[in-house]
Amino acid sequence: MDNFQYVESVLHVEEVPVPKIAAAVGTPFYLYSAATLGLNFTVFDQAFSGIKHLTCFAVKACSNIAVLRLFARLGGGADIVSGGELRRALVAGVEPGKIVYSGVGKTRPEIREALKAGILMFNLESAQELGVVQECAAELRVVARISLRVNPDIDPHTHAYISTGLAKNKFGIPTEEAMEGYLAASALANIEIVGLSCHIGSQITKVSPFVDSVAKLRDFLVRLAAAGIVIKYLDIGGGLGIRYNQEEPPSSAQYGAAVLQALGDLDCVLILEPGRVIVGNAGILVTRVIFTKSGRQKFIIVDAGMNDLLRPSLYGAHHGIIPVIQGGRGREVADVVGPVCETGDFISRGKEVPVALSGDLLAVQDAGAYCFSMSSNYNSRPRVAEVLVNGRDFHVIRRRETYDELLRGELIPDFLMDKENRVAKNDQQ
Ligand code: LLP
Repeated sequence: MDNFQYVESVLHVEEVPVPKIAAAVGTPFYLYSAATLGLNFTVFDQAFSGIKHLTCFAVKACSNIAVLRLFARLGGGADIVSGGELRRALVAGVEPGKIVYSGVGKTRPEIREALKAGILMFNLESAQELGVVQECAAELRVVARISLRVNPDIDPHTHAYISTGLAKNKFGIPTEEAMEGYLAASALANIEIVGLSCHIGSQITKVSPFVDSVAKLRDFLVRLAAAGIVIKYLDIGGGLGIRYNQEEPPSSAQYGAAVLQALGDLDCVLILEPGRVIVGNAGILVTRVIFTKSGRQKFIIVDAGMNDLLRPSLYGAHHGIIPVIQGGRGREVADVVGPVCETGDFISRGKEVPVALSGDLLAVQDAGAYCFSMSSNYNSRPRVAEVLVNGRDFHVIRRRETYDELLRGELIPDFLMDKENRVAKNDQQ
């Protein structure tokens, strides 16, 4: 990507040398390029310029409020899957009327919050959920705009954990049952049917599964219209893959053209929920080598672990690794591992990586999507910083967690207190 390049052997993001940021914020940290984020969003959005549409960024891919604000400024909406993501989207300034709420297990408090905010629509995934949304809307004396998420039983040919549109996956309502669902919804006083939605998976590298699912949705729309149910919004989900290694995914433009062709002359507002394709290549994880070990096997032990970047451990995902400063030392096969006490804690295993020495900085590529957002505090490791580069400037958009923040919210109950502490505590009361 143009915004991540070497200048005199030093990796820069836009115009900022990465070692400068490492010196200021410490390691590890996630580093995003505002220019790449903006460009990816715009290119994707323009691929649908031939039709009325709304690009709702999938918040789960990269949830930082600064990143969400950037897309909101470009006219984007948000695809959310929890009350926490709703809060983030609202704080970031996403218009409530541009928020769609997906997910199989929305709770009543979450549904109420979204109703109060006045979101565009709920993508419902079961008859029970429809009933609960009706009840919550009636309590609040509002009308809930809904779509049903259908499960088209299409194989997206991706990792089994991120395939969502097969009959055996937990998501959506089988297309055969969806008509019944719409008829039930149309009889409910506090429900307004506005949409039809679908999402078949993530990191999809061919257009054919998307085209097949759009064709199924179009057929279903025709049946709905015949039953007198008019659909304003057709939400075809996210899922477009990116190149991590050898993959050759379609470009946003190719994807857009294929979708528009499959839609034909359908008169709906198209909703898209892209995540990875917008943020994936716009971020790196910068980590420092702590030690190296070279016995029977070569290990490069870095300060970022599986808690900071889970994808390799969870999905066997590939992320390229490059040196932050090119030292001319070449590459060799080694395992790049973190400090977490698990053998499954690796960032790269059995592949060629830069020859690295203790103290070197490494950049883990394509770490903008589902990396920071999936990080955890496992092994009581504070969450790392996130930094956004904008031209010549860099901005910390999330401070590294402190140990105090790590322990915030934890309490030792009275019965476990030492006598002196109990007395001291009682004195304070
Ligand atoms: N809409 C819905 C309803 C989704 O479930 C997802 C992703 C998206 C949109 C965005 O999909 P995207 O355009 O990013 O492919 N943690 C996994 C990815 C999980 C994706 C789950 N759903 C990973 O690291 O590969």
